[in-house]
Amino acid sequence: MRDIVKELEERRSVARLGGGEKRIEAQHARGKLTARERIELLLDPDSFEEIDMFVEHDCQEFGMQDKKIPGDGVVTGWGTVNGRPIYLFAKDFTVFGGSLSRAHSKKINKVQDMALRNGVPIIGILDAGGARIQEGVDALGGYAEVFQRNTLASGVIPQITMIMGPCAGGDVYSPALTDFIFMVRNTSYMFVTGPDVVKTVTNEEVTAEELGGAKVHTSKSSVADGAYDNDVEALTELRRLIDFLPLSNRTGAPERPTFDVRDRVEPSLDTLIPDNPNMPYDMMELVEKVIDEGDFFEIQKDFAKNIITGFGRMEGKTVGFVANQPMTLAGVLDSDASRKAARFVRFCDAFDVPIVTLVDVPGFLPGTSQEYGGLIKHGAKLLFAYAEATVPKITLITRKAYGGAYDVMASKHLRGDFNYAWPTAEIAVMGAKGAVEIIFRSSIGNDKEIAEHVENYEERFLNPFVAAERGYIDEVIQPHNTRRRISRALALLSSKKLENPWKKHDNIPL
Ligand code: HXC
Repeated sequence: MRDIVKELEERRSVARLGGGEKRIEAQHARGKLTARERIELLLDPDSFEEIDMFVEHDCQEFGMQDKKIPGDGVVTGWGTVNGRPIYLFAKDFTVFGGSLSRAHSKKINKVQDMALRNGVPIIGILDAGGARIQEGVDALGGYAEVFQRNTLASGVIPQITMIMGPCAGGDVYSPALTDFIFMVRNTSYMFVTGPDVVKTVTNEEVTAEELGGAKVHTSKSSVADGAYDNDVEALTELRRLIDFLPLSNRTGAPERPTFDVRDRVEPSLDTLIPDNPNMPYDMMELVEKVIDEGDFFEIQKDFAKNIITGFGRMEGKTVGFVANQPMTLAGVLDSDASRKAARFVRFCDAFDVPIVTLVDVPGFLPGTSQEYGGLIKHGAKLLFAYAEATVPKITLITRKAYGGAYDVMASKHLRGDFNYAWPTAEIAVMGAKGAVEIIFRSSIGNDKEIAEHVENYEERFLNPFVAAERGYIDEVIQPHNTRRRISRALALLSSKKLENPWKKHDNIPL
């Protein structure tokens, strides 16, 4: 008996070493932690329970029968983050570059199946070279098994991917099917095909960083939702994000204790809006002053900065915030902003997270570049997302809500539950100058007459009261009371029940 216990310990030690000391050193020399070190940082102390530690591949090609490492390049299991369970798999780059074999994929499939069955989030930590080249179609099939499970779990349990090394092929497609992707600057890359293949096929010379580094994917392609300076920061922030998320689509948003009070009055919000309607102000100030303790987790911070998306809490419960940002492009809605916000709204709706929308939008961005780029279809994504969402929806118009953008940004007409406006709100088809130029096109007079028309238009339409007279705005509220009004509304809406007509699934304009 004692011998067997000893053998178990020995086998465990071998498995824990992965690809061996030398490769671990190389991993550290590149500024990366190992799979096991990452797991330790992510989970609560001593909470990790490993599964399938001794699994090995069964490949007989290219001498692989003599190269077997227990665990086969991926560490799988479950543990807790601040006491709440998660499943995870962490690719071990020290073992065959973390590449995926049939056995490796079966290990991932097992935790994917368990996570889905038990209604618990799953985290993938990736640092891997894609399909194990020696295994051929077995590896390709293995990836498809992972993709299938990613897709079935979408909208049922949160799936988050951490890209923490060079990732290619299947190791970027699986992440792309998950809810959120985070990267580490200077050590992580994502591409379908690497720089060498690019050079062969297109004759383009490009570095890994230029092709698929964190900057590219957080600010250009929008494939990734955020990036951090190192592994430690990335995993610490992941713990923070997990705290905001429900375990599944059946549990509702989590609640945490807060010291912040519902009735906190913020007098500074009464002067947030500048006197000049064309002057920007920082919408993030409003978000941070409304939520509990100013604790906000921003999603896609570096992409389409004209719209803010992210999670905060109101009275301890998670809320999704979508807010136009007048500091960038005057907060206009363009294709990128629409896609970014639409995806976020759909995540919130799928997981029963209420949505608070803060509106200051001069409209959709005009121009050939936007139209050729499919603004109609991208704008429709956001419209669709808000219109189909059945979670509590609270909207506050702080200043401009012009044209189609008024409709899109969770208006009353899209089943907004509480639609508020500050007294500074301007709800109209367009700004006064543009409106006057069109209405009085045939009779446009001298400058004095034009100025009079503009003034008349501003007085009549650029305020919240016309909309309030019609019930499109439920109430015009004092800025300093915003937190109290939104908190009370959310509390009331916690029992909201709304269902869309039965369908197999919708056909969002992808
Ligand atoms: C088997 C692999 C491997 C792979 C890396 N290794 N990728 N072994 N299959 N796919 C091994 C290397 O042989 C090496 O082993 C060790 O991992 C470390 O790799 P290096 O190349 O030394 O590291 P580095 O220079 O950091 O480069 C990392 C890398 C590169 C960028 C990931 O290894 C690479 O380009 N790999 C191939 C990527 C790829 O084309 N994958 C197939 C994608 S197709 P030793 O023993 O020397 O330490 C795909 C199909 C699915 O995934 C498609 C679904 C849609």
